[in-house]
Amino acid sequence: MEKKSLYIITGASKGLGLALKNTLIKLPHTSVIGVSRSPIQAENNFTPIQLDLEDSESLINKITEIFPKGEYEEIVLINNAGWIGEIAYNGNLSSEAIVSIHAVNVIAPALLMNAFMKTYKHHKGSKIIVNITSGAAAKVVDGWSGYSASKAALNQMTLIAQKESEIKHLGFKLFALSPGVIDTPMQASIRSARPNEFSSLAKFKSLKEDGESEVIAQKVLYLIAHPNEFEEVLQDVRKF
Ligand SMILES: NC(=O)c1ccc[n+]([C@@H]2O[C@H](COP(=O)([O-])OP(=O)(O)OC[C@H]3O[C@@H](n4cnc5c(N)ncnc54)[C@H](OP(=O)(O)O)[C@@H]3O)[C@@H](O)[C@H]2O)c1
Repeated sequence: MEKKSLYIITGASKGLGLALKNTLIKLPHTSVIGVSRSPIQAENNFTPIQLDLEDSESLINKITEIFPKGEYEEIVLINNAGWIGEIAYNGNLSSEAIVSIHAVNVIAPALLMNAFMKTYKHHKGSKIIVNITSGAAAKVVDGWSGYSASKAALNQMTLIAQKESEIKHLGFKLFALSPGVIDTPMQASIRSARPNEFSSLAKFKSLKEDGESEVIAQKVLYLIAHPNEFEEVLQDVRKF
């Protein structure tokens, strides 16, 4: 008998998250829950949850809906939703954008990761969290202070949650995975930045992507299907 799986994906309406959702809903014995601000059509094995992850209070109120109880052999959370933020130098950023980027890229995945680990602590099957990070976490890119700092925070949260799971023998497997450059609406936002607030604009305009969303989605799913092949928490699709 095939195993029954539950996948929870944030940012399932566009880009990488949409490609993940479209791939997963075709699999047998698989239920998918997708979170996004834009509405997504419900399907047989797909449940959309329309939510602005920037609104931490609404997220906290919906958290039990996002993590249902059930008899699954495999439960996976993919914290994929992310925002590049306002691309601007410190001194020119709006206060609202500073608050928003950390709400979407740090606070939302932190709340979701914590709730996932609380809900499925006693779950006996496989339980995996993949936080979609970025190589920007370890780079100094002018105009991207919020984005870069938010992904660095996500990496640290993931490393620490993995260590805690090991100390307490909870059986979670966590990854922070860099997806490489993918041609998605996020790249379009990057290319529309103002050159005086982002010295890498020309480089990003001519950057060759590492793969289409569908190709990168397959890599994310390979990692999830073969967690024991990947020892380190911090992973990069360009390396496998
Ligand atoms: N594209 C790249 O080259 C690249 C490179 C490195 C890392 N990444 C990372 O990969 C992940 C996916 O990126 P992508 O390129 O696919 O991005 P994208 O095309 O901009 O899509 C982002 C997804 O996140 C959702 N989202 C954004 N803000 C949200 C909010 N406040 N509440 C709920 N959902 C929200 C969007 O849905 P709605 O708009 O419907 O809310 C959308 O489904 C991100 O974490 C990104 O940082 C991407």
